[in-house]
Order: sequence, then C-alpha cells, then structure tokens
Amino acid sequence: MKKSILITGGAGFIGSHVVRLFVNRYPDYRIINLDCLTYAGNLENLSDIEGKTNYVFSKVDINDSTQLEQVFNDFQVTDVIHLAAESHVDRSITDPLSFVKTNVVGTVNLLNAAKNYWKDLSQHLFYHVSTDEVYGSLDNGGFFTESTPYDPQSPYSASKAASDHFVRAYANTYGLRTVLSNCSNNYGPNQFPEKLIPLCIHNIKEEKPLPVYGKGENVRDWLYVEDHARAIDLLFHQGETGNTYNIGGFNEWKNIDIVRLVCEIMDQKLGRTAGESAKLITFVKDRAGHDLRYAIDAKKINEELGWKPLQTFETGIEKTIHWYLDNEAWLQRVTSGDYLKYYQEHYG
Ligand code: NAD
Ligand code: DAU
Repeated sequence: MKKSILITGGAGFIGSHVVRLFVNRYPDYRIINLDCLTYAGNLENLSDIEGKTNYVFSKVDINDSTQLEQVFNDFQVTDVIHLAAESHVDRSITDPLSFVKTNVVGTVNLLNAAKNYWKDLSQHLFYHVSTDEVYGSLDNGGFFTESTPYDPQSPYSASKAASDHFVRAYANTYGLRTVLSNCSNNYGPNQFPEKLIPLCIHNIKEEKPLPVYGKGENVRDWLYVEDHARAIDLLFHQGETGNTYNIGGFNEWKNIDIVRLVCEIMDQKLGRTAGESAKLITFVKDRAGHDLRYAIDAKKINEELGWKPLQTFETGIEKTIHWYLDNEAWLQRVTSGDYLKYYQEHYG
C-alpha cells in the first residue's frame, strides 16, 4: 500500500463521495472509513464499494481516544482527511454542546492521535474539511477570501471555527503538516433530508409543506458534492502545506428562488400541473441568528491548481432530483429510521 488514509465521517453525505472517489481512483491506497454512524451516517451510501479490497470500515467515535489509537496502529495510518462532524445548523441551535463535543473536542482528539502516532510529522498530512460559515455573514456585496477574518455566528460555525483554529495551532506548535479547505453549501445524492434541497424534494413528493425561513431572501452559494470531492482530492495531493483554500460553486441563489426551481422541476418529473408544487411553499419563523449571505471567492484554488466545478447548477440539480426519485427506498429508510435499527442490530 502506498498510503493508508483515514477518512473520518466517510458514511455521511460528503464523506461517502470522498471515500468512493479515493477507493476507485487509487487502488494502491488503503482507505479506512472511520465513522460512528450517527443519524447522518449511512453505510448504504457506500454499498457499491463495500467489497473492494482497498476499503475498510471502522465504527469508531472520534471522541474515543483509545479506539482511535488502535485504528492508527492496526491500519498504520499515513494520512487523515477529517470530515466527521455534526453538520446541521438548526440542530446546533437546539443542542450546541453536542457540536462542541464532536467538532471541537473530537477534532482535538483526532489531532492528538495523529501527532502521537506519526514519528516524523513531515511525512504525513492532516487534511481538515471546513465550511465557509466560519467567515460569518455577508450583506449584498463582496466575497469570502482566504484572508477574511473569522466571525462565526451560529453554534455550528463557532464549533467549526474552533476546530480550524486547533488544526492551525497543531501545525504551528508541533509542526503537523496540515491543509484546510472551507467550502460553500453542497448538494447532491445521499444528502440527509433535513437540509434545504433534499427536504424540498422529499416534501414535494409527499405533498407536505415546504418550510421557507423568514422571507426566503437569504443567499447561499451551491456546489455539487462530487465537485467538492474532486477539490479535496486535488488539495490532498497538491495543496501547499499549512495553506487554506476556499471552495465554492460561483453559484449564488436566494432560498426562495431555489425552492421555486425545485418545485418547477419536480412538477415536470412527477407529471403534475405547472405551479402545483409551489403551492406547498410555506413561509415560517426565521432561523435564530440566520446568516444573510455566504459567497465564496474560489480564485486561489482555481488559479493555483486549476480546479473549477464540472457541474453547472442546471446539470447538478437535475442529477440530484433524478437520484432522489430513483432511490425512493433510501429516502424512505432514512426518514423512517429503519436504517438506524439495522445498525443497532449489526454494529451495536
Ligand atoms: P453529514 O452530517 O452528512 O455527515 C457527518 C458524518 O460524520 C456522519 O457520517 C456521522 O455519522 C459522522 N460523525 C458525526 N459525529 C461523529 C463522531 N463523533 N465520530 C465519528 N463520526 C462522526 O455531514 P456532511 O454534510 O457530509 O459534512 C461533512 C463535513 O463537511 C463536515 O465537517 C462539515 O462541517 C463540512 N462541510 C459541509 C458542507 C455541506 O454543505 N454539507 C459544506 C462545507 C463543509
Ligand atoms: O455553507 C456551508 C454550510 O452549508 C455547511 O457548513 C453546513 O454543514 C450545511 O448544513 C449548510 O448550512 P446551511 O444552514 O446553509 O444549510 P441548510 O440546508 O440547513 O439551509 C440552507 C438555507 O435554507 C439556509 O439559509 C436556511 C434555509 N432553510 C433551511 C431549511 C432546512 C429554509 O428556509 N428552510 C428549511 O427547512
């Protein structure tokens, strides 16, 4: 094996796309998917690669330092790509402590495990996956660049900002080789239907209300998940040690416009009369402390490494809606909780 890469959070939405890309593209790397399978982790996302000889799954919580140490020893881990996290802003508002536990303490635990296991830190890489939300909220002008000061506004973004600071502190203090990336909103197959786009697709199918927070005027920059996975692959191999890279879709949308677009496409796909699904749009109480706008300037990764998204929003949203319509059973299982029962029986 040329490398033995520990990918944390590999059963989640983005993690499963990163794991699949690495397993398929690099047959001479061993890929260890470490995930404790919270409600957001689903091994069914990776059923197509589970038999591959360069792929291993390990059910471990990043807060468990003994088990982490064991994994580093058992698989002689050479590098880490860290995605495991609590990721949903609304959940962070009702339960901030669980975000501190996984995103901050869990990250420090993982940093310690790597630092203690690796003898020559210059030979190994700790790649930390983060979010554009650490930069705070923009009004209607400007973009986040890599030098925008941190100004997190939600318990989720505060926990991710803290984890970013710890990664940089380990680089500065102990000489750990690190690369960080901060990405905008992802969408695509396998996203848990608590996030805006899959929630709308699911609710339109079920003819349930589509809750739009406030007036729906908040703006997000959307990137197809496989384009994010490609950026992570590129930065893992070619990112400059100690550097941070912003990743974004050059694709800003007001929430209400995106919800209307999903309604239009779903009407066509489901053979409903035009305008039928939009009747489900329901304006509800705004999210507490709702950030108005995120917009990424992804010039650095574009100019230095030649990365740009392959999917346009038109092709990406089409593929996403197709995937959810073709995978009704997946959607049914994750919304009914059947898959959690399955994991309890199989993994305890
Ligand atoms: P997700 O919620 O879909 O998946 C998170 C995964 O981490 C799950 O498989 C879960 O089981 C696992 N996990 C959670 N706590 C764990 C713990 N204590 N130990 C081990 N595993 C644990 O999240 P996602 O949307 O795929 O996001 C992945 C990463 O990318 C996160 O770090 C997130 O902050 C970051 N990110 C997400 C987006 C986005 O739009 N979704 C954008 C930018 C950055
Ligand atoms: O910007 C990157 C971040 O994007 C990631 O770091 C987070 O992990 C990811 O969850 C996402 O955060 P958001 O809060 O932007 O995503 P969400 O899908 O929850 O919401 C998108 C927008 O839609 C946001 O402005 C809130 C709004 N919204 C969301 C939901 C779930 C609604 O209006 N109604 C809803 O029901």
